Amino acid sequence: MKVAVVGATGLVGTKMLQVLDERNFPVTELIPVASAKSVGKEITFKGKQYKVVSVEDAIKQKPDVAIFSAGGSTSLQQAPLFAEAGVTVIDNSSAWRMDPTKKLVVPEVNADVLTPEDKIIANPNCSTIQMVVALKPLHDKYKIKRVVVSTYQSVTGTGVKAVDQLFNERKGVEGPKVYPYPIDLNVIPQIDVFTENGYTKEEMKMILETKKIMGDDSIKVTATTVRIPVMGGHSESVNIEFLHEFDLSEVRELLANSPGVVVVDDVANLKYPMPLDAHDKDEVFVGRLRRDETQPNTLNCWIVSDNLRKGAATNAVQIAEYLASKNLIGQAVEA
Ligand SMILES: NC(=O)c1ccc[n+]([C@@H]2O[C@H](COP(=O)([O-])OP(=O)(O)OC[C@H]3O[C@@H](n4cnc5c(N)ncnc54)[C@H](OP(=O)(O)O)[C@@H]3O)[C@@H](O)[C@H]2O)c1
Repeated sequence: MKVAVVGATGLVGTKMLQVLDERNFPVTELIPVASAKSVGKEITFKGKQYKVVSVEDAIKQKPDVAIFSAGGSTSLQQAPLFAEAGVTVIDNSSAWRMDPTKKLVVPEVNADVLTPEDKIIANPNCSTIQMVVALKPLHDKYKIKRVVVSTYQSVTGTGVKAVDQLFNERKGVEGPKVYPYPIDLNVIPQIDVFTENGYTKEEMKMILETKKIMGDDSIKVTATTVRIPVMGGHSESVNIEFLHEFDLSEVRELLANSPGVVVVDDVANLKYPMPLDAHDKDEVFVGRLRRDETQPNTLNCWIVSDNLRKGAATNAVQIAEYLASKNLIGQAVEA
């Protein structure tokens, strides 16, 4: 398969190349794409050198699949052009996620919504992906009424420049800033811009995307999203109220047997998920499972995953794998 990776020089794009290689996605030809400043740069993939090209050149090469991680405005402008040319686009930005004509997919949760007509498929927000992977089996069994989530998000979620800001601050070196405040030795209770209701866009993404992916508008979600100076992945404290009664050991077993979930929950031996351990892993790690003793049918847990992998690259490649396995790539155009 001819695969274009749009944003190939970025944090997510670099991870995308690594994941495509590791998972042996059948790439016969790679088309790395980035902004004008990177055109001509060399990228190594599976021991072969490829030159970075512009989006215009990439469309001309007619890839089968284009995986976009190049920001919302690039996706808004370019994804429809690829789709019109018959390319299946999997988009990591927020551009298409809440468009009712586009599918928002986490393969463990709702891959079955995909059809050959879906030419632009949205990859959800990183914090949302890791949460719904853990919520889905619990919702199926006990029906979720309400979720209260607070996040502790890695600087890698903001891209290359944020990682530079953290390390420049740590070394005492001046440099460009992507956050409005220092991030080293600090915690910033703002991710993305504020909306009219006082929530940030990131918080609204978690609220709205969860309902769309789970296919259930009745699930109430409230979120506080926070940036912290870590690298390995995002962490979430999640309080879940169910309609039905649950048994804690059954919850553990259910999660342990769910695709993409690893339970790390042995407090006697100080075992719980942490971003350092989740770094460069594909799974969603769940621990600190305990009852909320202040109200019935309510669970507290702690969810950690590498935002660049399951939160972005791995999820996108899993979508591509699903499409390939069901022969859903290119069909609508040929038909
Ligand atoms: N980081 C995460 O955890 C995460 C998770 C989920 C989704 N995402 C989304 O993925 C996207 C990329 O994030 P990132 O963290 O990888 O950012 P990043 O490190 O800043 O990388 C941005 C990439 O986009 C390319 N690019 C920028 N403008 C372009 C244009 N006009 N045409 C073609 N390519 C262009 C850049 O190329 P140059 O190197 O040439 O500038 C670079 O390859 C964003 O939409 C983000 O919201 C990120």
